[in-house]
Amino acid sequence: MGDPGHPAAPGLRERLRGAWNGLKTGERVLLFTVGVLLVFGMVFWVLAITGVSDVMRVRDVYEESPEADVGFHLVKQYGCRNCHTVLKVGEWGLAPELDGEGTRHPYMWIRAYLEDPRRQMNGKTLHDGRYAMDFTELSATEKDRIATFLFAQKSMPGSANYPEPPR
Ligand code: HEC
Repeated sequence: MGDPGHPAAPGLRERLRGAWNGLKTGERVLLFTVGVLLVFGMVFWVLAITGVSDVMRVRDVYEESPEADVGFHLVKQYGCRNCHTVLKVGEWGLAPELDGEGTRHPYMWIRAYLEDPRRQMNGKTLHDGRYAMDFTELSATEKDRIATFLFAQKSMPGSANYPEPPR
């Protein structure tokens, strides 16, 4: 038992309780909230990395090939990302996302769009040479490569870029 003349040093529990009691109400609320968020974050992370929850599963993929890589460089070079999101990078809201383009459209559709957007969209397109280029400045090979790149953008069910099912 403790010697009355020399009281035992407070244990960890007492020290923690003392620290907690010394806090203002606002500080306690803040600490508690941060703690709860940390626990939720850890649980979420463990579920995600173990595959129990698939919320973090990759749902847009790039089927890479040397030709498609050339197309990607052209897409960057011609500033397509000023309007389109490509491989998750770029503007959004101005033009359709091009991630998942190869699941929404066959290769021939994309290639025909690059050849003549007006004809492909029945005259209603913003790729009219004023708002956005009508691709006339691209060579046939460049269009082939870009079409290959865009067709290599696939999306899977659960992705926002997955096509809507027909009604
Ligand atoms: C100034 C903005 C702008 C830029 C830059 C731009 N686009 Fe577009 N693009 C659009 C808009 C708006 C549409 C919507 C469809 C339309 O108007 O024909 C579109 C549609 C498309 C589509 C059809 C998408 C679909 O599924 O309907 C393709 C393919 C495309 N763009 C490719 C490109 C490529 C490749 C480049 C770069 C060489 C590019 N765009 C640069 C604005 C832009």
